[in-house]
Amino acid sequence: MNSVAIPPRVRMENIIKSYGAVQSLRGVNLEVAPGEVLGLVGDNGAGKSTVSKVLAGTVIPDGGRIEIDGKPVHFTEPGDARAHHIEMVYQDLSLCDTVDVAGNLFFGREPLRRVLGIPMLDHAKMHHDAREMLDGLGIRIPNTHLDVENLSGGQRQAIAISRAVSFDPKVLIMDEPTAALAVAEVEAVLELVQTISQRGVSVILISHRLQDLFLVCDRISVMYEGQNVADRKIGETNLEEVVDLIVGRKFKARSARALSED
Ligand SMILES: Nc1ncnc2c1ncn2[C@@H]1O[C@H](COP(=O)(O)OP(=O)(O)O)[C@@H](O)[C@H]1O
Ligand SMILES: [Mg+2]
Repeated sequence: MNSVAIPPRVRMENIIKSYGAVQSLRGVNLEVAPGEVLGLVGDNGAGKSTVSKVLAGTVIPDGGRIEIDGKPVHFTEPGDARAHHIEMVYQDLSLCDTVDVAGNLFFGREPLRRVLGIPMLDHAKMHHDAREMLDGLGIRIPNTHLDVENLSGGQRQAIAISRAVSFDPKVLIMDEPTAALAVAEVEAVLELVQTISQRGVSVILISHRLQDLFLVCDRISVMYEGQNVADRKIGETNLEEVVDLIVGRKFKARSARALSED
């Protein structure tokens, strides 16, 4: 890269995090460009969720450096990350089941109107804005008055993503957004990822469904036991290689142990 090159949207360098004796992150490096979709893969326990939470400000690392658009940042709470336009959709979605679609989209910042000087929830505006938000993202949910507990997994996922997008993120992290979805719903979420990245948002997509990543990602980064072990442009790799990178070392490590135990 030369001196006039645009800095990456996110640069994480040598991120370290331990929980007691468990070294969850052992010097992780991640870069994402504006509008890039990065697939983050690795076996269970590789550290994918932890490194994402560091970027989202919910986990404070023991060491390392984070830069956003070339400037160093220090996050000690999710509000810090949000202030830098970093949003994360968590595995559990963090929706309120007994609140309706519009209420979930605007939870904590519901539009108000004054009636005789008293602030009241502006239901009409909230539902109108919710409808615009969903339509703008091409999300098909016919009724914003439904409680989200009555919606399908894919619709719930779409609402969690819409809510994150409504904070105008530069970076959107999604942790296993398609893990629990039916095939048709997976396609809708992947389309949503494309819509969002085409707006210039950098997306970090964690998924075990490698075939999904090959549809929407520009690049894949592989983690293994708290470190990055490989980084591949999507056009320069294939499913077999990525599978090898994820599990290969495990089998090598196992066979090495088996040999040394002989
Ligand atoms: N809050 C925590 N307390 C203790 N250990 C944790 C915590 N969060 C993650 N870990 C450990 O850190 C490692 C990485 O976990 P995680 O980031 O969830 O991996 P992944 O998302 O790749 O499956 C695992 O060994 C996990 O048990
Ligand atoms: Mg995880």
